[in-house]
Amino acid sequence: MSVTSPFIGVILAAGQGLRMKSSLPKVLHPVCGLPMVEWVVRAMHEAGAKRIIVVVGNGADKVRTALADYDLEFVEQSERLGTGHAVMMAAPLIQDWEGQVVVSAGDTPLLEGRTIYDLVERLTEEGSAAALTTGILDDPSGYGRIVRNKVTGEFEEIVEHKNCTPEQLLIKEWNPALYSFNSKLLLEALPQLSRDNKQGEYLLTDVLGILRKSGYWIAVETTRNNDQFLGVNDRWQLAEASSLKRIQILRDWCEIGATILDPGTTFIGADVTLEPDCVILPNTVIDGKTSIGTGSAIGPNSWIKDSVIGQNCRIFMSHLDQAVMEDDCRCGPFSNLRPGAHLLPEAKIGNFVEIKNSTLGSEVSVSHLTYIGDSQVGARTNIGAGTITCNYDGFSKHRTLIGADSFIGSNSTLVAPLKIGDEVMIAAGSVVTKDVESGDLAVGRGRQENKPEWYRRWKNQKVTADR
Ligand code: UD1
Ligand code: CA
Repeated sequence: MSVTSPFIGVILAAGQGLRMKSSLPKVLHPVCGLPMVEWVVRAMHEAGAKRIIVVVGNGADKVRTALADYDLEFVEQSERLGTGHAVMMAAPLIQDWEGQVVVSAGDTPLLEGRTIYDLVERLTEEGSAAALTTGILDDPSGYGRIVRNKVTGEFEEIVEHKNCTPEQLLIKEWNPALYSFNSKLLLEALPQLSRDNKQGEYLLTDVLGILRKSGYWIAVETTRNNDQFLGVNDRWQLAEASSLKRIQILRDWCEIGATILDPGTTFIGADVTLEPDCVILPNTVIDGKTSIGTGSAIGPNSWIKDSVIGQNCRIFMSHLDQAVMEDDCRCGPFSNLRPGAHLLPEAKIGNFVEIKNSTLGSEVSVSHLTYIGDSQVGARTNIGAGTITCNYDGFSKHRTLIGADSFIGSNSTLVAPLKIGDEVMIAAGSVVTKDVESGDLAVGRGRQENKPEWYRRWKNQKVTADR
């Protein structure tokens, strides 16, 4: 979105959030995998903010660190003297700015870029001193109320719940705390704020009343989407915000052509991407920077994080973390793909198989009960049930290299470092400690000896002795 009028975004994120009862700063509590303040930063970006200033205070360093990937300016509010005071801290950074200043709280993770964009456009169209969003709620308890002129219906001021008269408490129009200001007029009004109120704070909400009393026009944009402004002050609101955001994300993916079988039990993180025609089955969590290719089916009962899944893959009841599955691969049920697992096309991983830091060539099959770690396996090789790569000697990790078109018999123990060539057969039950050349058979087990009639003789002796 590119707005016709440039604006600076100011995000208030210094508050303590006492009602969260947490050692983590409130704005860092995650909603669908992202700290809530990060959602607000993204919304500001999406709306086209030229600069973004974040006011930090409580847990300032943690907030800065959490947002290190963004191009932001930080100001510190060392004393929490209210939302108006927080904006005062940002004032020196907007002194020379010709344009609008959008102020939003850092605890409204559902806020959309589109809404900010519309508010900025509204101020531009009306040429007003400020524009604010309002909403209508049956019970706006706790929120600031919008007081309008009884005759003209024009905006007059915002009164905080605590400061309302009994009559004002009946007002259903509430303040969701998203405003855009003409920067010069904001800077003029801020010094006029006073702490002469029940809170003993500088209330940003008073800026709007001050501007109106000075004769300026305030544009009001009334939203029908109150959910978008859900402010998170406690853990239950955090849960509510998370569940609304989760549904929103699922709906967005359905729109691009993904199938979600059960929205009630599906979790898709903020930075996941799905391609059309993938299917997500129930009880599935896809998180981190994961991408799922077209035609792939995931779940049920799967957990995937920071992984790249190609096209037409099938992941069934499995766990993947930092893994790559190229096209047409399958895994599960109960496969565990750990960091560095990389499956080339058409590789197949079965039940109770763990793969770590290993590349499996195309069409490799590891169907049952196996651990492959720090290894490389060539194309079309078959790894039999119960194979273990012994990659760790108690001090360091060693690699196992297995060539193409080989056959590793069931219950083989491959002691690394080890190199097995192409077209090799390892006899079932072998303990392999020496490299095997291409084309060879390795047998590393006690040779079987059969003793004719031994058991019958032994049994007869026992039976006779018992008589
Ligand atoms: C604020 C509004 C209220 C509105 C409500 C909507 C004011 C005075 N009131 O109330 O009208 O209905 O939001 O959710 O603005 N913050 C600072 N420094 C401070 C105080 C707060 O940075 O000194 C930050 C907080 O971290 C938070 C935001 O400002 O992100 C809002 O503060 P909060 O205390 O939650 O305000 P509310 O009481 O919710
Ligand atoms: Ca709040």
